[in-house]
Amino acid sequence: MTADDDVTTGTGHGKVILLGEHAVVFGQPALAAGIRASVRAHASPGQGAISAPAWQLEAQVGDDSLPGQAIARLLEKLNAEPRGLDFWLESEVPARAGLGSSAAMAIAVARAVAARTGAGEDDVLAAAAASESVFHRAPSGIDAAAASRGGLGRFDRVAGWQDLALASPFELCVGLSGKSHDTGALVAQVQALCESTKVARRLIDAMGELALAGMEALAAGDIPALARMFNMAHGLLAGIGVSTPQLDDMVHTARAAGAAGAKLTGAGGGGAVIAIAGERGDEILRRWRAKGYYGFVTTIGHA
Ligand code: MEV
Repeated sequence: MTADDDVTTGTGHGKVILLGEHAVVFGQPALAAGIRASVRAHASPGQGAISAPAWQLEAQVGDDSLPGQAIARLLEKLNAEPRGLDFWLESEVPARAGLGSSAAMAIAVARAVAARTGAGEDDVLAAAAASESVFHRAPSGIDAAAASRGGLGRFDRVAGWQDLALASPFELCVGLSGKSHDTGALVAQVQALCESTKVARRLIDAMGELALAGMEALAAGDIPALARMFNMAHGLLAGIGVSTPQLDDMVHTARAAGAAGAKLTGAGGGGAVIAIAGERGDEILRRWRAKGYYGFVTTIGHA
């Protein structure tokens, strides 16, 4: 075997949170799905170089950058040598856009390392959690779970990820605001709001209820009901201060184009929105594009 052959590869999925973002940090259930867009990490013997051309990222394990720090933490958790490998990352998931790029990276890198060390999937998840805490301080773990499992799932902080069956796949438009965000700061902002303003906790609890109602709707194949949950959830997320004028505009544009439901997804403060596409996917994407927003259609519940 030559050095060039000594490459191991791992993949992590991007994700969308359908319902329950932010509330999941407080212990509420959430509904999430892996998307086709993914990150692939290739690990080969080296000196700790990290390259991700899609993110214009060149870093070193353990340097001052967030990926450098995060991958150092991940390798420590996997008992791997800190600077024994180089990592080459191919990403279809835009960075800091609400689609779980850091978690997809962590799962991909941890799997590429585990393929060399024989570490199991539980170790991979623990290493990804360590990496995610560098990016997002105290994340719930939903992004890492979705990145690892893909498909559709229910997540809460106690039970973790549980796969959910879907009556039939459905299409979702994902729109990118083009504004990056800081998930950790937004989570801290919501935490501060809930401490200062008691009623905000009731909105958080209502988001958990919407997530449960969304799961029931999906189990029954009732996409119009899921769409109504999306619309209510966006109102609550705006109420706790994590939407932006741009995200509101994208949501309203999607609804005006015929989406039965639309909401921000992930931490907010920039990032992405999702809309139930139905037959209107092309028109939603066209209207977003006319306003300068890039979007794509993804299928939830694909095999
Ligand atoms: C971010 O994708 C989801 C949040 O709920 C944060 C978390 O759960 O760690 C905003």
